[in-house]
Amino acid sequence: MSIPKETPNASSRLDRGETHDVTELHAAVLREKPDPVEGFEPVNLWVVAGIAGLLFWGGAYLTQYSGRFEAMEFSEFPHGKPAPVVAVAADPLAAVKRDGMIAYNAVCALCHGEDGAGKAGVAPPLAGSDWVNADGPNRLLRIVRHGLKGTVKVNKDVTWNPANDPSIVMGSQWDAIGGTNEKLAAVLTYIRSSWGNTGAAVTPQMVADGLAAVKDRSADANWTQEELLQVPASGAGAPAAAAAVTPDQLKAQLQALPAEQRQALLKELSQ
Ligand code: HEC
Repeated sequence: MSIPKETPNASSRLDRGETHDVTELHAAVLREKPDPVEGFEPVNLWVVAGIAGLLFWGGAYLTQYSGRFEAMEFSEFPHGKPAPVVAVAADPLAAVKRDGMIAYNAVCALCHGEDGAGKAGVAPPLAGSDWVNADGPNRLLRIVRHGLKGTVKVNKDVTWNPANDPSIVMGSQWDAIGGTNEKLAAVLTYIRSSWGNTGAAVTPQMVADGLAAVKDRSADANWTQEELLQVPASGAGAPAAAAAVTPDQLKAQLQALPAEQRQALLKELSQ
């Protein structure tokens, strides 16, 4: 009587009592991946590689530019703000010019431009103007105090309003800038030191002296270039004495008047 084999042949994958190779039967099942479960689908390897690349780049960036994670590293003033007094000390007129700039930008810039370059058809340039850069402020302060009309030779390259168009005028800006000697001095100091201009500073005292001579002039009596040229640009600011007129000149001037006006004048003088 033979003893039934207790163990299957070692080379066979059949277990005891088995007639079919289970492994072989399930080969197809083993070869397939399990069905994906929603929410746990396998991720594309390129995406994984991309994220890994970004992380690497981020690490490298932080190593380079972290600023050692110190708050001060990115501060504009790591040693505290510089004291404003430094700027004032460098230019004793800084505060005056600032005042002047504020008034200029609020009033004059509308016509003359913030850059002082003037605007075609609106107002002539102040940058490079002979009026602005003159020795003294006597003519300049009159222009702002009472306005200006008529043709104006601004400098050797620019003649404004050559056609003498009466609709082109600058009215008095005195009230607009605040109506004080200090404000006018500040505005004039600002325009004389900006945009390449080289005029000296103007003090409130200079304005007071200059305006004293014209205190009776009405604000809407705009100056003309001819009138202003009679005024010395610098100095105490009194108008120059009228040039003496010869009898011949007087005769010519009388002849130039319309006949009625001349008759009336002669009659008045002979009384
Ligand atoms: C409404 C427009 C207007 C405003 C505001 C104005 N101006 Fe003028 N300005 C003119 C015009 C126009 C002329 C030329 C007038 C003429 O045709 O004679 C002129 C001429 C001048 C001139 C002489 C010409 C030159 O270019 O140098 C000076 C200086 C001047 N202005 C300064 C000022 C200052 C300073 C202010 C402000 C306080 C001011 N103006 C505000 C329109 C303006």
